[in-house]
Amino acid sequence: MNTDQIVRTFVEYFEERGHRQITGSSLLPSPGDPVLFTTSGMHPLTPYLEGRPHPLGRRLVNVQRCLRTTDLDEVGDDTHLTVFEMLGTWSLDDYDGPQSLDWGYGLLTEGFGIDPGLLHATVFGGDDRSGPDTTSLELWQEHGVPVELTVEDNWWSNGPTGPCGPDSEIFLWTGDTPPRSTPTNDDRWVEVWNHVMMRHRRLDDGSLVPLGQHNVDTGLGLERLSSLLQGHSSVFECDVFEPWRRIVPGLWLLDERSLRLVCDHLRSAVVVIGDGVRPSNAGRGYVLRRLVRRMLTVLRRDDPWRSLVDLPDELVVHTLHHFRQNMDSHAVREVLLEEERRFGRLLERGRQVLARPRFRGLLREEDFHYLHDTHGLPRDIVLNLRSQ
Ligand code: SER
Repeated sequence: MNTDQIVRTFVEYFEERGHRQITGSSLLPSPGDPVLFTTSGMHPLTPYLEGRPHPLGRRLVNVQRCLRTTDLDEVGDDTHLTVFEMLGTWSLDDYDGPQSLDWGYGLLTEGFGIDPGLLHATVFGGDDRSGPDTTSLELWQEHGVPVELTVEDNWWSNGPTGPCGPDSEIFLWTGDTPPRSTPTNDDRWVEVWNHVMMRHRRLDDGSLVPLGQHNVDTGLGLERLSSLLQGHSSVFECDVFEPWRRIVPGLWLLDERSLRLVCDHLRSAVVVIGDGVRPSNAGRGYVLRRLVRRMLTVLRRDDPWRSLVDLPDELVVHTLHHFRQNMDSHAVREVLLEEERRFGRLLERGRQVLARPRFRGLLREEDFHYLHDTHGLPRDIVLNLRSQ
């Protein structure tokens, strides 16, 4: 199954069970939302999870693009991407957690043909504020799926305050041997689908109160599922990365981890630009700037002459098309190239300033402040220039 077929199968499965498809929003949350980027499918639905009636009813399904910088250091491993798509379903005070897990099990095993013997679940084991999630546990026991009970790993919230609750995660075995161990002890168990029983709200003082309605919020990372269904252990090998894997290695010789990071950050930068963000020194623009600079730093580690001038239009067009964005690919490339030129000028200035006798020895905290405030050189760039 290619990624488009996976999306269709997912959406149709839930439409047949009374869900209405909502249009996934852009990466930018609505005005007034303090969060810079949408980090999960539930984010744009927060008001409805908190009680506002949704115009399309109580059962929803969608595909939402998300951006996570919390996992930035993990990009390059098999499972993490900066921008990814999340398939999601919601019960807004309608059906309960076990029903959601039961449908999830049915879709994975019958809809996608996954061998039930390769599944493992985790369930909230309870703590001093909330009891164990026995109904999810029973559901998995009925299906004969092994369960691991955890505490922190099975409590989901989108931030320090707001809607939250216990969750049950479904893992798929990716090892070459028959399944063994448990998800928290063996990373060959890869998490594919999270079902959150969202029925609490955390207040500013950290206490939990009932949300007033019983929701279920589920999220499934699309690229992760695609790669597993397509028989690959890495997200970078699923079909949405096909043009990247075909073109980039011929363009720039990079080790596997660097190749993944360059592809991930470039693709993410294209999507962020496509959603209207421009590089700047604050907020969203700064996230974009950091992605581009991080990518350029890795790209040029072995060859300082490498440049985004060589980036083929096909990759930008493919990405914009995949994320259903209308921006002209040449305009996206121009934003990237301008940022590259700007970064080049900054590095040049940095080299000149750091060559001064004052900065030859060990740098003190006040040196870092001076370099940042007077010359616009952030600490990571200074450290990078000094290590060259
Ligand atoms: N909100 C949960 C997550 O992001 C489930 O959708 O994992």
